[in-house]
Amino acid sequence: MSKIKLNLIAAACENMGIGSNGTLPWKLKKEMSYFTTMTTKVKDPEKINAVIMGRKTWDSIPLKYRPLADRVNVVLTNNVETVMATVPDGVIVVPGLDEAISLVESRPEIESTWVIGGSSIYKAAMNHPSCGKIYLTEIQRSFDCDTFFPNIDKQQFHLVDEEEIPGERQVEGDISYYFRVYRRL
Ligand SMILES: NC(=O)c1ccc[n+]([C@@H]2O[C@H](COP(=O)([O-])OP(=O)(O)OC[C@H]3O[C@@H](n4cnc5c(N)ncnc54)[C@H](OP(=O)(O)O)[C@@H]3O)[C@@H](O)[C@H]2O)c1
Repeated sequence: MSKIKLNLIAAACENMGIGSNGTLPWKLKKEMSYFTTMTTKVKDPEKINAVIMGRKTWDSIPLKYRPLADRVNVVLTNNVETVMATVPDGVIVVPGLDEAISLVESRPEIESTWVIGGSSIYKAAMNHPSCGKIYLTEIQRSFDCDTFFPNIDKQQFHLVDEEEIPGERQVEGDISYYFRVYRRL
């Protein structure tokens, strides 16, 4: 059993869509800031967090924003050598989630670990014994999507209140959403 806890973080719309054509189906600035804050903030200023993502999610991040700043970026691919040749120094490329977890465990400077998508990585992480919490932004609208958040097993994951997470409805333009947290029992 590994020592680390995985947190998942995602934004999904009513039909559980998370992406379309290799990008996000919506533009929500405050939601994006929430993602940045949650995945970056550390209690110990000497430490840093890690973000684990699939190769397509890596590709979906605009060049000027990647690697995601102030976080150890870990990219999963079946083609480690090819992808490794294309990413900047410091980005870690691994062939699977277990390798990503081992890497994090070998780096004591990593405080928390965030799985940031996409679909199959969320699914593998949710089924992994190390998965503790799911931070899910629930957008109160449907969008056309081709990529979806996996079903959350509500027997295993329960909606909880977290003091530091705003519970009230968030509104950006004509889109509203809630920041939800599910915790594994
Ligand atoms: N709304 C949100 O919160 C959110 C979050 C993340 C992403 N997105 C959106 O979701 C879409 C991208 O997600 P996606 O689900 O299509 O792709 P993805 O999970 O980001 O990437 C899939 C790729 O990751 C690699 N991979 C996946 N599982 C692996 C495993 N077990 N071992 C080794 N490699 C593995 C493979 O790369 P290779 O093909 O290189 O082998 C696979 O093709 C985009 O539209 C993005 O904007 C949305």
